Amino acid sequence: MSFVLAIDQGTTSSRAILFDAAMRVIGVAQREFRQIFPRGGWVEHDAEEIWQTTLSVCRSVLSNHGVAAGQLAGIGITNQRETTVIWDRASGRPIHNAIVWQDRRTAALCEALEAEGAEPLVEAVTGLRLDPYFSGTKVKWLLDTLPDARARAQRGELAFGTIDSFLIGRLTGGRMHATDATNAARTLLFDIHQGVWSAEICALLDVPMDMLPEVKNSADEFGQTDPALLGAAVPILGVAGDQQAATIGQACFAPGMMKSTYGTGCFALLNTGDRPVASGHRMLTTIAYQLDGKRTYALEGSIFIAGAAVQWLRDGLGIIDSAAQSGKLAQQADPGQQVTLVPAFTGLGAPYWAPDCRGAVFGLTRNSGPAEFAKATLDSVAFQTRDLWEAMRADWLGAHGASPDVVLRVDGGMSASDYTMQGLSDILGAPVDRPVMQETTALGAAWLAGMRAGLYPGMEEFAADWALDRRFEPQMEAGAREAAYARWKRAVAAAMTV
Ligand code: G3P
Repeated sequence: MSFVLAIDQGTTSSRAILFDAAMRVIGVAQREFRQIFPRGGWVEHDAEEIWQTTLSVCRSVLSNHGVAAGQLAGIGITNQRETTVIWDRASGRPIHNAIVWQDRRTAALCEALEAEGAEPLVEAVTGLRLDPYFSGTKVKWLLDTLPDARARAQRGELAFGTIDSFLIGRLTGGRMHATDATNAARTLLFDIHQGVWSAEICALLDVPMDMLPEVKNSADEFGQTDPALLGAAVPILGVAGDQQAATIGQACFAPGMMKSTYGTGCFALLNTGDRPVASGHRMLTTIAYQLDGKRTYALEGSIFIAGAAVQWLRDGLGIIDSAAQSGKLAQQADPGQQVTLVPAFTGLGAPYWAPDCRGAVFGLTRNSGPAEFAKATLDSVAFQTRDLWEAMRADWLGAHGASPDVVLRVDGGMSASDYTMQGLSDILGAPVDRPVMQETTALGAAWLAGMRAGLYPGMEEFAADWALDRRFEPQMEAGAREAAYARWKRAVAAAMTV
């Protein structure tokens, strides 16, 4: 039993990553699935497709590498967070498509709850904000909208879960209805201080508590897979939301350590230790991981558009053929121009939380062309990270009375771009560290499971293994940095008033 299988069920694809006993990746299988947009601002996934693609990548990676399920010490699951599934307990069938974290359909409901004065309670209990991003209002929408759903939920016939929970249910043949504390912390229903579902918030959102999964540690016993699925029963031993798994994979175990993952969006987490820090700067307070009943907290900044802006250059504007070309094109930009892009394509997340804001471009001249657009797009990722960086550092300062000596650890697709990471270091005015290991999210999930199984080392030894690929040091002069950042802040303010 010298392998660990990590399932990384993301927003656009399901992946299975096979690790050996030395925590090296020995194989990856990946399948994309449909993005369903029933209306403007609505985003759904077919949960059956999520399940089928997940099962198929697990089978493929095992068979492609000649590994039998019986050789697995355990499975670790990491997943797109907040995405909401409700299913029939008896049949295991979802009663509706999954409502994806990006979906804005509950914006009016959030506003109404805010107008009723519910936000302070929600923030105090859950560490989150009244934003459609989180699961709670999506559950309420489903129960309010689908015929008979609330009555069935009250009779105990329906189960709610985030994607981890749905997959655990399917993998265990319906025997386990569980989640881990990091995923629970994203639902808007969980008391992050007490580590239990909040009766008060469930009452506020009219969510019957019988629907909710059991909340476990991130490394725990999540049941055995049905032997019919992979050829043998395999224990599921690790579960964490994908951004928390990346925090673990980056070994950000000490308070003050911070990681930023650049995928479709960008999610930065700052470990704040055993103390949840309430943000005075519109960050989220969340659980980084829970091990042996002990919760470690983080401040999180969530940006909805990062890599997606590069996709827009490719698919929307058609000025690049592949994302990898964006850095080269940006390098050709006229240094005399100051084109600024605010990529608020789906509103703005932290720290602005402006769901109705839309994208804007400033500073165009007759000479502005593809290179300037490419540069403005990559710059926008750095500026948005700086917004989070400033907010988190201010929160930390408030809590500890001193600035953290933070080095940012980066991962995700865009971190492969030297140009973008150098630009990030320049705009932050701080070093940016890129690890050798690129599969940090999967590694985090694999480590949780492998450590629980006794195959992988404990936290300290795991952290000592973290290896640097390259450190980017700021090269921009402070005056130019601050002028550029001030320009960004003006651009955001202007975009929010249009
Ligand atoms: O909060 C949403 C996040 O978990 C989604 O991550 O990597 O699937 O885009 P990803």
